Amino acid sequence: MYVAQPIEWTDRGVVMLDQRMLPAEEVSYTFTGYREVAKAIRDMVIRGAPAIGVAAAMGAALGVLHSSATSVEALREEFPEICDTLAKTRPTAVDLFWALERMKRRFAELATQSSDLAKIKQGMVAEAQQVHLEKKATDEAIGSFGAEFMPSDGQVMTQCNAGALATGGIGTALGVIRVAFQQGKKLHVLVPETRPYLQGARLTAWELHRGGIPLTLITDNMVGHFLKTGKVGAIVTGADRIAANGDTANKIGTYQIAVLAKENKVPFYIAAPVSTFDLSMPDGDHIPIEERTAAEVTHIQGVRIAPDVHAAHPAFDVTPARYIAAIFTERGVARAPYTESLQALASSGQSAAVAL
Ligand code: MRU
Repeated sequence: MYVAQPIEWTDRGVVMLDQRMLPAEEVSYTFTGYREVAKAIRDMVIRGAPAIGVAAAMGAALGVLHSSATSVEALREEFPEICDTLAKTRPTAVDLFWALERMKRRFAELATQSSDLAKIKQGMVAEAQQVHLEKKATDEAIGSFGAEFMPSDGQVMTQCNAGALATGGIGTALGVIRVAFQQGKKLHVLVPETRPYLQGARLTAWELHRGGIPLTLITDNMVGHFLKTGKVGAIVTGADRIAANGDTANKIGTYQIAVLAKENKVPFYIAAPVSTFDLSMPDGDHIPIEERTAAEVTHIQGVRIAPDVHAAHPAFDVTPARYIAAIFTERGVARAPYTESLQALASSGQSAAVAL
């Protein structure tokens, strides 16, 4: 089954598929500098929390690889600027900061172990590639845990794009749907278009169609209608940041879907890696919400659709934990009370799988 490749480390540099151009054109760029990677993240060439993390890790590796520093000391001085530039791109997806913290830890280890710059550079490239590889394995595990919660026959709904394009693996929410579909479940996916950036219409519809998974594209204001008519068996979305109590930030529009799901007794699930947990935040009120340009609301693909008025564009909203039936992760499935189950998963280590 077709799996999109949003990002790849190559000998020439970091190759990214330009998601802004999809589905009309499949255009890729090769980046050799960390500043270019930071710009690509900010400008949404690559997007989706885990894929942003992979891009940041690769950006940090590029920064070290192409540094003109001639000593470890000089490289140590340069490295924080590389990480800061990558960190100041998108504030909500915690995977970005998780990946940069990991690259910082690896850099500190390598720079302590050796004064050989070539070895340090090689080690940083290997670490970034490892982050990407792990994301692929993580998605597969999330998919297996979540698939059993999908109905054996019927409609499921998602929001935004939490597919291969958003992770570099098979996707989180779409990974769950993909695995369930491959297991023989007869799923049909309702895809809200996800205004204003249209990740649902442009990216999820494209991925599912390419993967041969049946779908129906709907506009965002059809969600209530489809949930009320009782033909949706489950909803599964991704996450950008999950607070200690289970409150979850995801693409704008997710909150209203979750509330309508509860009203209509449809289970609402989150599929996300443990790296998306931010247990330092007690609840969702502390999660920073990215404000993007109003032009993304007043224009579609560069074409003005509204007069020149003030427009708001919070890119994410927070779904309170009480609306979330379960959270699928690579280490198992968390259920309420999330303060306990998320903590248990976070401390359960890479290899252990816990069902709570
Ligand atoms: O603004 P985006 O496109 O980066 O937002 C993406 C989402 O909200 C996704 O649902 C989330 O990052 C999870 S991706 C597996």
